[in-house]
Amino acid sequence: MNLPEHVVKNRDAWTSTSGDWVAPGRKSWETDVITWGIWELPESEVQALGDLAQIKGLDVVELGCGTAYFSAWMAKLGANPVGIDITAAQLETARAFQAEFDLHFPLIEASAEEVPLPDASFDFAISEYGASIWCDPTKWIPEATRLLRPGGVLVFLRNSTLGSLTAIADGPSGSELVRDYHSIDRMEWDNPPTVEFQMPHGKLIRLLRANGFEIEDLVEVFPPADAVENRYDYITLEWAKKWPSEEIWRVRKRAG
Ligand SMILES: C[S@@+](CC[C@H](N)C(=O)[O-])C[C@H]1O[C@@H](n2cnc3c(N)ncnc32)[C@H](O)[C@@H]1O
Repeated sequence: MNLPEHVVKNRDAWTSTSGDWVAPGRKSWETDVITWGIWELPESEVQALGDLAQIKGLDVVELGCGTAYFSAWMAKLGANPVGIDITAAQLETARAFQAEFDLHFPLIEASAEEVPLPDASFDFAISEYGASIWCDPTKWIPEATRLLRPGGVLVFLRNSTLGSLTAIADGPSGSELVRDYHSIDRMEWDNPPTVEFQMPHGKLIRLLRANGFEIEDLVEVFPPADAVENRYDYITLEWAKKWPSEEIWRVRKRAG
């Protein structure tokens, strides 16, 4: 595989930190309750996936699946998921969970910017902090549309624009805009070295539409009323109560 520099950097970072995701991954594999993001906002409240009874039988691809708990949730609803991830160590954990929970579906080691699967082979594409932040949107969004059948749905979760504009290297976001708007397109971090993508809204809408998607929903995520401080150091509960810390996009590939 001849991978771009950002993909190699991100893969190396996920290889070195994969051990940190085993315990949280198991917690998500253990439950049937679908939640979103760092505040574990229930899907019953978010309703980004639509009618869960309609998921049964759908072909679902998860782009940047990590420990693959989201794919496992889809499998429990009767879908046929396929997990794509660039990091072998993450897929090893996912395979161990498949054995532990006796729930099996294909896992493919590949970049979500170049997926070795045929055109129009899925009804649903999902990315929860996977391709949605670690891949170049000008590469992974065309891949998502290629993989989807006409009328297929893409749902992805990423950080919020405000969160990215206020993000600092070693500590939580504050109330100051520390980055200029255009720089969040591509953000380089040091510890460990990673490249993160947060295309601003206007550009992203244009990109999605140019790739045949219509926007159905954009959920700006606030913590539920009973939320407690999360285990990540980049956003505090106090901050997230005032401003959206995450966003969930639901878009549909035009039928014709
Ligand atoms: C935060 S995890 C997302 C999985 C899961 N939803 C979670 O939150 O744990 C990010 C995943 O994206 C994967 N990733 C990073 N760059 C990727 C790429 N170019 N193609 C596919 N997966 C990628 C990483 O290996 C990692 O497993």
